[in-house]
Amino acid sequence: MAYGQTGTGKTYTLGRLGKDDASERGIMVRALEDIISSMSVTSDSVEVSYLQLYMESIQDLLAPEKVNIPINEDPKTGEVSLPGATVVKLRDLDHLLQLLQVGEVNRHAANTKLNTESSRSHAILVVYIRRSVHEIIDKITSEEKDTRTELPGDNHVPLVRKSKLLIVDLAGSERIDKSGSEGPLLEEAKFINLSLSSLGKCINALAENSPHIPTRDSKLTRLLRDSFGGSARTSLIITVGPSARNHAETTSTIMFGQRGSIRISVV
Ligand SMILES: Nc1ncnc2c1ncn2[C@@H]1O[C@H](COP(=O)(O)OP(=O)(O)OP(=O)(O)O)[C@@H](O)[C@H]1O
Ligand SMILES: [Mg+2]
Repeated sequence: MAYGQTGTGKTYTLGRLGKDDASERGIMVRALEDIISSMSVTSDSVEVSYLQLYMESIQDLLAPEKVNIPINEDPKTGEVSLPGATVVKLRDLDHLLQLLQVGEVNRHAANTKLNTESSRSHAILVVYIRRSVHEIIDKITSEEKDTRTELPGDNHVPLVRKSKLLIVDLAGSERIDKSGSEGPLLEEAKFINLSLSSLGKCINALAENSPHIPTRDSKLTRLLRDSFGGSARTSLIITVGPSARNHAETTSTIMFGQRGSIRISVV
C-alpha cells in the first residue's frame, strides 16, 4: 500500500509500466514479474482483478461498465471476495502490462494545483495465486485438511494452496485549501479523506494490538479486512514531498507510518 500527500509519487512508485526500460517499472509490474518467474505452468495459476474505489463505489478498471461491485465476506473463513469483478488468468508479463494500461485509461484522475495527474480514486490490483500440490496426508496441517479434496483409497491428496496479494495505490491525502479542490473535486476529496482516516484508525488499532479493528467504517477498509489479520502481512510505502511548504503533511505522513511500523513494514 502506498500512502502519502497528493503529488508525492505513489502512482509513480507503484504503477509505472516501464515498457521500454525495465528499470522504470513500478512495484505492480515488479511484483508480478517475480511471481510469474517462479510459476510452474503445470501446477500454478495467477489471476488478477484491477479495481478502483471511487466515491465509496467499487468499479472494475478492466470492465468499467461494472460499477457498485459488492464486497462479500465469507462468514466462516473471513475471506473477502468481489462477486462480479473481472478476474483474468495471466499468460505472461506482457499480458499484465496490457491490463494495467486498460486500467490506467479508466482510472479517475484530475488536474489539481498539487498534481497534474492526481489520482482521485484508490486503485487496487488483486492477485490470486493457486498452486496444486500432492502431499502425503500425514504432512498436511489441520487447517489444510479443511480445504482438501480427498481421493478415495489414496493417501496422496490433491491440495490447492491459495494466496492473495493486494497492491493498493491510494488517492493522495490533501489539504483542501492547498489543492484548490472545489465542486466535484471537493466532493471526491471528502470521500478520499474519509477512507484514509478510517484506514488510519485500523492502522492505529493494529499498532495497539487491539482485538477490534474497525474495518466497517469504509469500503477501503472492508476490502482490506482479510489483509489485516491472521497470517496476512502488510507493507506500507510512505511518500513525502521534500519542499518546506509540505512540512506539516510530511510530519503527519511520517507519524502515520511510524504508528503502523509496529506491526507493518514501512519503506
Ligand atoms: N521519484 C520520482 N522521480 C521523478 N519523478 C517523480 C518521482 N515521484 C513522482 N514523480 C513525478 O511527480 C508527479 C506526481 O507523482 P504521482 O502522480 O505518482 O503522485 P501521487 O502520490 O500518486 O499523487 P496523487 O495522490 O495526487 O495521485 C508525477 O509527474 C510523477 O511522474
Ligand atoms: Mg496517484
